Amino acid sequence: MSSSTYCFLVQFILNFVGSAATNTVDNNLLYGKHSNVPTPYLPTECMLEIFKHVQTQGSGLYSCLLVNRYWCKNIIPLLWSRPFEGLSTENRHKLIHTYLACLDREDYLNLSSSLQPYNIEIPKARQPLFNYPMCLKEFSYKQLEIAVHSTIHIWCNRTFIYHHKQNQILLISTALCKLFMRRSISLKSFMIDKYFSHSDIPQISTFIEKPGLSHLTKFRIDFNKPMTTNTIRLLGNLPNLCSNIRCLDIKFPIFEHNHKAISRIISTQKRLNEFNLSGVKLGSERIFSSLQSRHETLNIVRLENVYITEACFNALALCENLKDLSLRYCRGLNIENTSVLLKSKFSLKKLRLGFSPNSSDVAGLILQVGGISLKELEIDLINPIIVETILDYCPNVKEIKLANYFPHDNNHLFYHLFYGLSLENLEIFINSKNLDYEDMKLTGQDLPPTLKYLKLSCGFTFDQFKELFKTCNALLETIIIDYIDLNYDHIKVITKFIKDKKTVKTLGIVGMDDIMTSQEIRELKSRYEIFIIPSYELKHW
Ligand SMILES: *[C@@H]1O[C@H](CO)[C@@H](O)[C@H](O)[C@H]1NC(C)=O
Ligand SMILES: *[C@@H]1O[C@H](CO)[C@@H](O)[C@H](O)[C@H]1NC(C)=O
Ligand SMILES: *[C@@H]1O[C@H](CO)[C@@H](O)[C@H](O)[C@H]1NC(C)=O
Ligand SMILES: *[C@@H]1O[C@H](CO)[C@@H](O)[C@H](O)[C@H]1NC(C)=O
Ligand SMILES: *[C@@H]1O[C@H](CO)[C@@H](O)[C@H](O)[C@H]1NC(C)=O
Repeated sequence: MSSSTYCFLVQFILNFVGSAATNTVDNNLLYGKHSNVPTPYLPTECMLEIFKHVQTQGSGLYSCLLVNRYWCKNIIPLLWSRPFEGLSTENRHKLIHTYLACLDREDYLNLSSSLQPYNIEIPKARQPLFNYPMCLKEFSYKQLEIAVHSTIHIWCNRTFIYHHKQNQILLISTALCKLFMRRSISLKSFMIDKYFSHSDIPQISTFIEKPGLSHLTKFRIDFNKPMTTNTIRLLGNLPNLCSNIRCLDIKFPIFEHNHKAISRIISTQKRLNEFNLSGVKLGSERIFSSLQSRHETLNIVRLENVYITEACFNALALCENLKDLSLRYCRGLNIENTSVLLKSKFSLKKLRLGFSPNSSDVAGLILQVGGISLKELEIDLINPIIVETILDYCPNVKEIKLANYFPHDNNHLFYHLFYGLSLENLEIFINSKNLDYEDMKLTGQDLPPTLKYLKLSCGFTFDQFKELFKTCNALLETIIIDYIDLNYDHIKVITKFIKDKKTVKTLGIVGMDDIMTSQEIRELKSRYEIFIIPSYELKHW
């Protein structure tokens, strides 16, 4: 059963039980009167901590709802903080029904009359027992659109929808956005993205309702189509609506030009800590000079597909607290314009580089900027110059991720690089669509004894895989395997390695839940005391 199914069930049960609620959770959450309830064994704060962990384990939390009213009241806010995530089609419409039932009478009537021309009648429902919209913490417009779309599909027949679908979705989404803006007291994360490209988002008047966006700490915009009028207005108005954004993530198609709005947002968010920007052509200096005004708080900057000039790097160089820099597929980079970074005030801990093989000289220069403070490096380019630069300038790198790495004939450089750094963590990611992985010649001998952590998110032929572990002398403590074509033979190879070497303590394999029951894995757990990472936790390792 899913979240909304349970919530309905709970509501049903509570209607019968009909009493009791403690005041540990804000009483606004529950409509109606309250009375006493048996004292819980643990304080609310502890309960919430425990529930948060249960929440990461899939559907576990839903059964907790049914324990008693006290538990239920503590769990509802957790379940309804991100209600759109991972919903099945059937539950999407239940979710929308529940939210529609929360509308104020006036808004409900207004929406009903707006939908009348389309012959749509909103199903009648009782006012819910809980104030669900109040719990909303994370919102994505696209997820709302998809959920509303599924709902209309269930209400109407296909032919009819085909003509007016986008209008109907916009009407309903507007009413619901207004509801969220008015009721949600802790909306922290707000994402503007679109599923349907021919309609706009609701008008700006919808979003200026209070408390609305005033508590935002994270704002994301993800557009790959031309920007709509209301989106541009919302961007322009954001500085008037909130001032505590810490994480800002902006993704535009390259032809968009909203530099002024973005730089105003940056200059008004005094605690900006993390800034992602993707897709900006000429004129990016404006954005960078406002970044400079956030030099005290800014720790993380990620740029992708951005046109960068010398003035941009000049501004960036003044951000003294920058620790984590990512430059991927940016344009305008050349040695002359980039070298101002050598005078930068920051000491990086983490650097991510995505470069075409042509700009390996610029990549080398930026590695020098990383220098001795650098601990983690993600890179897609390995050649003799890059390897020499890393060894000379960034000797303290202990973690390397080869991301979207294209294996050519530089495989012999691995040994030199990994041993030279006394590497401790290695992750290899190759997109599964890139069949070049068969050219990857990583052998066990390339892995230094210092290596403790190995994560393989790339294909390997079975022979490569077998050879890698057979020849490996690293004292690995953690092994994570994350690719699809894994079979029983792979498990046997790993099991043998673990039994022989006796250094491994932790093992994670994607899709493990099926394999978990196998004889080998059971034995690893019981006899060798290996911790097997559950699937839902793998991405944190
Ligand atoms: C009714 O809904 C329409 C469309 O969403 C909106 O423009 C209008 O302001 C609403 N009227 C009232 C009284 O809320
Ligand atoms: C679909 O809806 C249209 C408009 O309401 C109606 O004319 C048509 O008969 C319906 N088709 C079916 C198969 O119900
Ligand atoms: C910024 O980008 C990184 C990497 O793509 C991502 O992990 C992170 O969540 C993004 N930040 C925000 C605020 O969305
Ligand atoms: C960038 O470098 C090019 C080539 O050296 C130079 O012509 C140009 O003036 C530089 N421009 C900026 C703004 O950095
Ligand atoms: C890299 O250089 C080659 C030839 O020097 C050129 O054909 C190619 O277009 C360049 N690629 C990029 C991404 O600049």
